[in-house]
Amino acid sequence: MKTAREHFGSRLAVILAMAGSAIGLGNIWRFPYLAGQNGGAAFIIVYIVAMLVLALPIFIAESIIGRRSGCDTFGAMRKLAPGSKWRWLGLLTVITPMILLGYYSVVGGWSVDYFFKACAFRFDGNTEGLFGSFISSTWEPLFTHSVFIVVTAAIILLGVKKGIELFTKITMPLLFVLIVFLVVYSITLPGAFKGVEYLVKPDFSKVDINVVATAMGQAFFSLSLGVGTILTYASYVSKKENLLVSAGGTAFFDLLFALLAGFAVMPAVFAAGIQPGEGAGLVFDTLPFIFGQMHSVLGGVVAILFFLAILVAALTSSISLLEVGVAFLVERGYSRTKATIGLAFLTWGIGIVCSLSFGPLAGVKILDLSIFDFLDKLCSNWLMPLGGLLFTVFVGWKMSKADVRDEFTNGGTRNVRVFEFVYFLMRYLAPVGIVVVFLTNLLM
Ligand code: PFF
Repeated sequence: MKTAREHFGSRLAVILAMAGSAIGLGNIWRFPYLAGQNGGAAFIIVYIVAMLVLALPIFIAESIIGRRSGCDTFGAMRKLAPGSKWRWLGLLTVITPMILLGYYSVVGGWSVDYFFKACAFRFDGNTEGLFGSFISSTWEPLFTHSVFIVVTAAIILLGVKKGIELFTKITMPLLFVLIVFLVVYSITLPGAFKGVEYLVKPDFSKVDINVVATAMGQAFFSLSLGVGTILTYASYVSKKENLLVSAGGTAFFDLLFALLAGFAVMPAVFAAGIQPGEGAGLVFDTLPFIFGQMHSVLGGVVAILFFLAILVAALTSSISLLEVGVAFLVERGYSRTKATIGLAFLTWGIGIVCSLSFGPLAGVKILDLSIFDFLDKLCSNWLMPLGGLLFTVFVGWKMSKADVRDEFTNGGTRNVRVFEFVYFLMRYLAPVGIVVVFLTNLLM
């Protein structure tokens, strides 16, 4: 016999869990380095537009499907469009998060490593070359990647309420306080002003279709869209909650954290004389520099707390990725334990290959990219927007408008006026926008 599905306990719990999924390495690690590679302020503006016009409507679309069906992605398609080809979308959105978790857990492992290093007070102002030699070594990153996967799986085994909900409630506020502290510290470093300028003075000559595609991909990555995570979490949301509030609240906090991370990192990048476009290592090179500059026990303690917070942010995201696959398998009759352990092994394997692509497998290239970069690009620039596109087309064109309205307005009691506008975004603007970016990116 099936047991009743669990629900998040309160509105705050919903927003915190969704924000927990959204706010992660995407904000703290990926956003600053993408901004650094793609023109700073100009990228941020394109990113904000992509977030509002493309990502937010899709967040709402996924929430509607999730809560309406009360199922995992695959089950949702079967329930809302029985016997149709839409089940393939359900499958796509189970596969993408597993690939994503594979390489995400590698970066999660980097944060584990840096947390350990912080605890050993290794950031003493002499950290040049530390990151490069770490990721290109074979065993150390593999070990910390494994630790990260094990912790992710352990939280998932505890279940939705005791695991995900409790964990995010405690840790997200801590992350916020620390990041604000770092922003203040970073912008007051000597030479930091250039970094601030870089983030607020746009140079639109840097913006091309590649930058737009990257900004769109980042918006999807950051809001955890197109992979069924938001759909699965929304299936745990009670019928009384307001979906617009949870979507808007999550997007707001997600953007806030990304911008704060940008302002914590970029001024320090300029102060340290590091190149803003250096790529994936940016944050891991810059933050130890900041902590080293503090030259005191304070610096050491802040480093410990900060890497702990990054780690936690990464975990609240990785558990949401694993939960998609686990929910899928549990719905197909597997026990939660078996599903979790099986998928943990799968993603661990993918992660091993990704991790080695910084060292022994550095020579292996796919379309000129390392294995890690290829999977990252495949997921965020293609598979996630594709999943998002199909979700919003599903809500806009496959579900009946009456059902969508009913779910959006909680049976006609809320947000009735904004509904038409958001429906327009979900039905026309978001799908057309994504297709245009896809096509131009393919053709140019
Ligand atoms: N949004 C997460 C981050 O910014 O780190 C990454 C992520 C989590 C993407 C969950 C997708 C997902 F389903």
